[in-house]
Amino acid sequence: MTDTLTIRRPDDWHLHLRDGAVLKAVLPHTERDFARAIIMPNLVPPVVTAADAADYRDRILSAKSQGSRFQPLMTLYLTEETQPKDVRAAAEIGLVKAVKLYPAGATTNSASGVRDMDRVMRVLETMAQVNLPLCVHGEVTDAAIDIFDREAVFIDRVLDPLRRRLPELRIVMEHVTTADAVDYVRAAERHLGATITAHHLVINRTHMLAGGIRPHYYCLPIVKRERHRLALRAAATSGDARFFLGTDSAPHVDAAKESACGCAGCYTAPVALPLVAQVFDEEDALDRLEAFVSLNGPAFYRLPPNEDMITLRRAEAPVPPAVETAQGSITVFDTGRPLAWQVER
Ligand code: NCD
Ligand code: ZN
Repeated sequence: MTDTLTIRRPDDWHLHLRDGAVLKAVLPHTERDFARAIIMPNLVPPVVTAADAADYRDRILSAKSQGSRFQPLMTLYLTEETQPKDVRAAAEIGLVKAVKLYPAGATTNSASGVRDMDRVMRVLETMAQVNLPLCVHGEVTDAAIDIFDREAVFIDRVLDPLRRRLPELRIVMEHVTTADAVDYVRAAERHLGATITAHHLVINRTHMLAGGIRPHYYCLPIVKRERHRLALRAAATSGDARFFLGTDSAPHVDAAKESACGCAGCYTAPVALPLVAQVFDEEDALDRLEAFVSLNGPAFYRLPPNEDMITLRRAEAPVPPAVETAQGSITVFDTGRPLAWQVER
């Protein structure tokens, strides 16, 4: 039985850091374990232009702890007004590593997202030319489509037509939650990857809803039935280079989650690596953990893997307490069991 595991330092390929007091409070948990993270641009107002991204990057850098070598990898929030020229310039100077597509209304702070794909094709063509990946929130927003089906329908209605129209565009399907998405990514010959969160590997919709509603398990895309969780676990632990960790750690203060109309998002940054290590352990796949958390993501983004190493140790630990911020406390994602692995620090 393996009790310690030393791997290259991981990266987080999908992270919400927010801004201001929350940014300051949550960043220490990510910079402790991860070298780099793709920073989601869904602030209010969103990070739309290269100038917005440069300002936000500077706020993140000034919130870093002393001695931290954490590198934020910035993204732009795609709108129907986004200028191809601005995106090209931001990519060429290395400021921006991806552009994020939110279908308008799909999730938290997505009101300025895209309604009509025709209106963003020029930007997407430019991205294909300069090799800038598109990260997609893969859910349709059609009110007639059941929330549990929105990812699968998005593949047929939006993603597949887009990939046929612009085969050279490199796309990451963010936080996949269904067997349908896993099968679709596996069937792609090139230019398609997917992030998988820690929480979608460990909970299903029954955990969220049976025996009382658990608002801290509510996120988008919503957790699905067990069959889908098992498909995600198989994909993550397979070693297939198209799948990599993106925690989608999405902090909201408790008052906003424990509410009659609660926000979507699980705050997992402090526990993501221990949870993922436990999943790989349970699946007898610890030898493939490094690929999922540290190698496949950089390969997709055409960046070198990190040089330094971290060690994970099999040792029980309690889930850390809520993070206190000037805006309120933020509960850390908790499966109801102690953590089975720890990151050595
Ligand atoms: C994210 C957030 O809170 O910003 N919420 C979530 O449930 N994942 C937005 C997102 O990534 O969909
Ligand atoms: Zn997200």
